[in-house]
Amino acid sequence: MKLSLAPMEGITGPVFRKAHASCFGALDSCYLPFIAPAHPGKAFTEKTLKALGKQDGRSVIPQLLTKDADDFVWTAGLLAELGYSEVNLNLGCPSGTVVAKGKGAGLLRDAEGLERFLQDICARSPLPVSVKTRLGLADVGEYGRILAVLCRCPLKELIVHPRVRTELYRGTPHLSCYGETLEKAPFPVAFSGDIFSVADFEELLRSYPATTHVLLGRGILANPALGRMLKGGPAATAEEIREFHDRLFEGYEEEMGGNALFRMKEWWSYARFAFADPQKVWRLVRKVRKADEYEKAVERIFNGVELADEAVYRP
Ligand SMILES: Cc1cc2nc3c(=O)[nH]c(=O)nc-3n(C[C@H](O)[C@H](O)[C@H](O)COP(=O)(O)O)c2cc1C
Repeated sequence: MKLSLAPMEGITGPVFRKAHASCFGALDSCYLPFIAPAHPGKAFTEKTLKALGKQDGRSVIPQLLTKDADDFVWTAGLLAELGYSEVNLNLGCPSGTVVAKGKGAGLLRDAEGLERFLQDICARSPLPVSVKTRLGLADVGEYGRILAVLCRCPLKELIVHPRVRTELYRGTPHLSCYGETLEKAPFPVAFSGDIFSVADFEELLRSYPATTHVLLGRGILANPALGRMLKGGPAATAEEIREFHDRLFEGYEEEMGGNALFRMKEWWSYARFAFADPQKVWRLVRKVRKADEYEKAVERIFNGVELADEAVYRP
C-alpha cells in the first residue's frame, strides 16, 4: 500500500513537508500544491521556485494548473531539468475564478476538448503525466464520459477525488465512481477523499480491496501521525505535536516573517481536532495578531488542553 501526502494549496508546501517528514517520517510520496506553468522560453519565477522548494527526492510530484498544452509541455521540461520524474495535472480545483477560465475542474466541462488536450500533452511531455480529477462539474452522471476519455490517454496514474466541483469538500464522496475507475482504468489508480482515521482506511479497503494508493489530506492535518498509524504505528504524543508545531512555525517565520501567523492559524483550523476540546483550542488562537500573543496561546494549548482520544478531522 502506498500512502502519499495530498496537495493542499497554502498548506502542504516545502515548510510543511520538511517539518512533517522530520517529525513523523516521510510518506511514500508527496504531491505539491498546484503551480502556474511557465510560458515557453521563460524560466520559473522566484515565487514558483520557492513553492517547489528544494528537490527532496524522486517521490515529490509537482502539479500544474493550466489548460494550455504548450505551457504544460514547456514546464514539464523545466521540471525534468530540476530532477522531477513525473508531472501531475489538476482537473479538480473548484475555485470560481479558476473554473471560469476553463482550468482545474473547468477542464471537465468539455470532454472532447479535454481528450485533445490530454492526448497532446501526453504525446509531447518529457515527463510521464498523471492526473488528479474530480467526477465532473455539477453531476456525477458526467463522470462516465470523463472516465472514458481518461482511460484512452496514456496516463502514469489517475488520482480520483470522488466529488463534483459544486460539492467542494463537503458531503460523502461517491465511492462507486472510484470503484468504477478501479475496474476500467488501464493504468494505476489512487484514491483521495475523507480518509480521516484508521477505521475510514480499513472501510475503504474492505469495500475496494484493489486499492493500492491512498492520498491523505485533511486527515493528516488533524492527525499528523495518521500515515504512521495506517502502517500499524502509534498515535502522536503531545510532545511530538509540539515539536512538529515548533518546526512549522519556525519554518514559516523564516519564509514569510509576520505572515507566519496566518499560516499557523490555517493549520490550527485542522490541528485543533487532535485535542479533546477543539473549540477551546480554536478560541485561543483564532484572534491572535502578534507573535508574543500567539506564543502565549500555544503555551496554554499545550499545557492546558488534553489530547483527544483519537485525533479525527471533522468537516
Ligand atoms: C485547503 C485545500 C487546498 C487544496 N489544494 C489542492 C491542490 O493544490 N491541488 C489538488 O489537486 N487538490 C487540492 N486539494 C484537494 C486535496 O488534495 C484532496 O483531494 C481533498 O482535500 C480530499 O481529500 P481529504 O479528504 O483527504 O482532504 C485541496 C484541498 C484543501 C482542503
